[in-house]
Amino acid sequence: MLFPPRTKLKIKDTPLDSARLPVHVAIIMDGNGRWANAKGLSRLHGHDQGYRTLKDTVYAADDLGLKFLTVYGFSSENWRRSQEEVGGLMDLMLRAMKAEIEELIYNEIKVRVIGRMHELPDALREEYESAMRRTEHFTGLTFTLAINYGGRAETVDAIRAIADKIKRGELDPSQIDEATVSQHLYAPDIPDPDLLIRTAGELRLSNFLLWETAYSEIYVTPAPWPAFDQSEFIASLMDYAKRIRKFGAVIELNPET
Ligand code: FPP
Repeated sequence: MLFPPRTKLKIKDTPLDSARLPVHVAIIMDGNGRWANAKGLSRLHGHDQGYRTLKDTVYAADDLGLKFLTVYGFSSENWRRSQEEVGGLMDLMLRAMKAEIEELIYNEIKVRVIGRMHELPDALREEYESAMRRTEHFTGLTFTLAINYGGRAETVDAIRAIADKIKRGELDPSQIDEATVSQHLYAPDIPDPDLLIRTAGELRLSNFLLWETAYSEIYVTPAPWPAFDQSEFIASLMDYAKRIRKFGAVIELNPET
């Protein structure tokens, strides 16, 4: 199948150094509503534009050679929005996956979905299950959508899974360590995010990847998600490249570097 031609982003045409790129970037895509409001458009228009930005970001991440991109598409708290907005978002998520899956496959992008999928409308859940099945063998970029996702719900689900193993006599509580908890999260095979980007300026985690972001570098831009273009993405990766990651240790800085 043929797709509209896309100009590939080449790392050599950017100021980025491939050796200093993050392996896993996670994004809180905030500000669709404010972007739309400022333009006199409906909130759903904002989400529609957010979908376009998401598509550009997925392919930019793939072009740059990132291994993992995880985005917060719908939080477990987003059900509290108006019926119209929740319905519109569910429709958009279904429409988007139906429209994009062949191109994702063509580009060998592996699709994952994390969150309480069983609470989603059947059609959306089935579309996501099919996308995961059809792309599970790809080894390039893993694109993970967090849908009906909450970091605390993920922790609760991990605790339940661990408790079940204890009940069945498969695990002794004294054996539980941090690795045990990580192994019972939704995507135990995906490394923790190196970089967490949040658009639209708020300085909070909003229940996103609470365990996994323990040592992530955080980058917040005032740009609302629909305005997060390629230059914004590159700026966030440039900022990450300057960070010195200590993971709680003391790093001796070489004065000559
Ligand atoms: C936050 O903006 C965004 C969301 C709640 C949904 C994210 C959805 C998209 C980017 C659309 C495409 C997604 C998929 C998975 C195809 P907000 O509504 O909270 O903005 P506000 O804080 O300005 O009101």
